[in-house]
This record gives sequence, C-alpha cells and structure tokens, in this order.
Amino acid sequence: MTDVVYRAITVTPIADALGAEISGVDLASDLPEETVAEIRRAWLEHLVVFFRDQALGLDEFLGFARRIGNPVEYPFVKGVDGYPEIIAVAKLPDETVNFGGIWHSDTVYLERPPMASMLIAREVPPVGGDTMFANMYAAYEALSPGMQRLLDGLVAVNSSAMADVSKTREDRRRDSGDVDDREFVAEHPVVRTHPETGRKALYVNVAHTQRFVDMTEDESRPLLQFLFDHSIRPEFTCRFQWRVGSLALWDNRCAMHNPINDYHGHTRILHRITLEGDVPR
Ligand code: CO
Repeated sequence: MTDVVYRAITVTPIADALGAEISGVDLASDLPEETVAEIRRAWLEHLVVFFRDQALGLDEFLGFARRIGNPVEYPFVKGVDGYPEIIAVAKLPDETVNFGGIWHSDTVYLERPPMASMLIAREVPPVGGDTMFANMYAAYEALSPGMQRLLDGLVAVNSSAMADVSKTREDRRRDSGDVDDREFVAEHPVVRTHPETGRKALYVNVAHTQRFVDMTEDESRPLLQFLFDHSIRPEFTCRFQWRVGSLALWDNRCAMHNPINDYHGHTRILHRITLEGDVPR
C-alpha cells in the first residue's frame, strides 16, 4: 500500500515486513483530528509505528492514548501512583529478568485482549534493550493453502500461567504490592480476522498458547511449535532501537513483540498503556 498519501505526518518504514517511524508531529500538542486519523491509518498499514523525541508527561501520554483508543488496566502489575492505566516496565541493574521477555501478543489469555499497546521510553541502557516485532498477517499468508485451511478451523486455549512467561513478571509483581495469582484462560481462533483491515492473521504465541481446543498439550505441541518458529522468521520482523522519548504504538491483533534482554547491569524504564480490544473472531 505504498500509494497511501499522508499530509499531516511523514511516514518512513524501518523494515519491509512492518514498522514505520512517524515524524513531523508533537504528541504533546493538541492534535487536529486529521493528524490523529493519519496516525491511525499509518498504524493500521504498518502494524507498529514509532515516534522520536516526544516529551510527554504522564497526563500527556494518557491524553494521546485516549485519542487512539480506550486505556484499560493490566491485571498483574499495579499502575503508577494516580494513573491506574499506566504501568512502569522496568529492569534495574541488579535484575536479570526482563518483563515480558518472550515473543507474545499482549494478554491473549483475556476474553477481550487489548487492541493496542503503547510504550514510551524514560531511561534506556547505553546499548541493547531493543524490541522486536513480527507481522502475523505475513506469517499467515506465507503458509500453504492446505495449512491455512487446517488452521482456519482451529481454536486455541491461551493461559496466563504458562511457566516461561510467568517468570518474566516476577520482579515487577514483587514490588507492585497486590500480587494477583489468578490464572486467566481464554479460547481464541488460531487465525483471526482483523476487525478494521479485514485481513487474516495468525493468533498463537509461545508465551500464552497452551494447546488446541479438544486436543491434549502433547498432541498440540508439534504444530504449535512449527507455528511459533514460523511466525518469527526474520523476514516477518523488524527491530526498534529505543532512545529516551521514543514512543511505540503497536497493534496486538496482527503483531507480536519481544523485548531483547541483552543489557544486564543497566537500567531500562518505560511506561506502558494498553488500549481496549474486542473479542477475536
Ligand atoms: Co508485551
């Protein structure tokens, strides 16, 4: 879709698969409706968009989020003081675990997983701590017609209690006070149709997807493992290097992300907001 014309913003792709930097916009200002509409259009086209050098306080961050969608609270980590919808995603010099450090789409174990997530970087390591993103439309479209037909009929069980991802929340849960030990489980189609673009996307991830409905974990594992490996092929991904003031907005309905844990001994702090989504179909 290279014929999309933008008037209020400049959109520069960072990879062929997905990801674009948007420049020429100050998110702290009172954005005209047309600018927000173009940001939204670029986001739907590129799945994840990035802004640089944005000096947004918490109120302004929340204000921009509300122009895109409806902020919701995250079940496992308490929000920052006075802002229940904003959580701090942090790794400190003495910690080795990075929050959410595994390929995933956010909170797929909920009945209505978030449409989008936004992060703004407050403190970053001198090098490292990049985030990778993967295009799940591309992953689906690259499968053979036979595999697509097979997957189109399948539903998957997604859980919040899978061992690999639970581990990545330990440090943040410890200091967030009210530790929530509930397990959330939701069944979602393995291939979902994006409610805005109408395109089909693969919707399983190694962090949350346990098995196919009406099948055992053992029976499900080989095919799931193939899909996990397939969906993160390098040509389906992009990689974003944070700077202080960088802001990312991604579409959880058609993209996965994975923060890289390669900066031990350094501090990395970002603020996150997730935006309400619908029931995947
Ligand atoms: Co995440």
